Amino acid sequence: MATAADYGLGPNVFPRGWFIVAESKELDQGPLAVRFFGQDMALYRGESGRPVLLDAYCAHMGTHLTDSNSAMIVKNGEQIEGDSIRCPYHGWRYNADGDVDDIPYHDGPCPKSASIRSYPVVDNMGCIMAWYDPDGRAPDYDPPHLPQWDDPQWVKWELDHLGEQNIHPQEILDNMADVRHLGPTHGAPSEYFENEFRDHVYIQRQGGPMQLYQTYLYTTTWYTGPGLLLSKQVFGDTVIFELIANTPVDDGVVRCWHACLYRGSASPATAEDREAARQAQAGALEAFSADFNIWQNKRPALKIMQLKTDGPFKVGRQWYSQFFKSPEDAANLQQELNGILHTQGMDKPSERGHNIDDGLPF
Ligand code: FES
Ligand SMILES: [Fe+2]
Repeated sequence: MATAADYGLGPNVFPRGWFIVAESKELDQGPLAVRFFGQDMALYRGESGRPVLLDAYCAHMGTHLTDSNSAMIVKNGEQIEGDSIRCPYHGWRYNADGDVDDIPYHDGPCPKSASIRSYPVVDNMGCIMAWYDPDGRAPDYDPPHLPQWDDPQWVKWELDHLGEQNIHPQEILDNMADVRHLGPTHGAPSEYFENEFRDHVYIQRQGGPMQLYQTYLYTTTWYTGPGLLLSKQVFGDTVIFELIANTPVDDGVVRCWHACLYRGSASPATAEDREAARQAQAGALEAFSADFNIWQNKRPALKIMQLKTDGPFKVGRQWYSQFFKSPEDAANLQQELNGILHTQGMDKPSERGHNIDDGLPF
């Protein structure tokens, strides 16, 4: 298992940014115990509908707020009050900011030192997304949102939960520059290919003949920050947006999700569209699984032997490293990296009629 330091990332161990921490519908079953960024966390939905993510352990005696399901207060469904949550041991109540605002057997002000960390969270495209910054700084960009998510012609996704893997996310991010794996791994070799770096966004445009569906595939794929990949894919009459999300659990351990948003044949999308969407997501998952299977069994590529005709792995890794630095250092790095890179031996998108970028939110 390779760590951030092994890849030369740092000084922080975990990247700052927006990340998926759960699928929205998981919170309908009640509070969840989760672990990300080397921290145990408590995730729940308040009565207003607002999702809340807190560090897991109560300051009083260290009880996990959402991993003690046999306590009577939990069994009785009395743990959540408004957007606050009561500790199952002695009932101290934490609000959504992580401050204790009521202790059932104590008069007077609650101790400020009992506060625990609360993370910014949003409910976005069927996902609970959290902002992580090791020093608790506020978000400096918005999580990505596809306008198609709110369009009834598009069939909404349900997430494939790919679980925890002993893979450093760096190996997943390397895919963005990796033009030469698309033929051998996916049976869809690129004829054109480029990468663009735009501050916290990393874009890939590529296309070529796809073996699986015997058609030409055009894709524009982009990371918004270090954890959220979206990819517009057009082949024949089909248009999908693929989501691939990675969230660090511990240093060198990652949790991943996958999904596809599918354009139906009519508005609103029909039952046949929903079936086609399910199949399209399964097909995309199978293609992604080919990457995943390689990552699971490879040794970490702490250094890449990059040929001139490979994609720009090294610049891609520099881009990713910004999220392990202070915002000031990240801004300097962005200035250095911003721009378009072409890979030797590949056509440019304009030479192959790539015109699928209109309206993409980056
Ligand atoms: S341990 Fe949480 S209220 Fe006592
Ligand atoms: Fe891939």
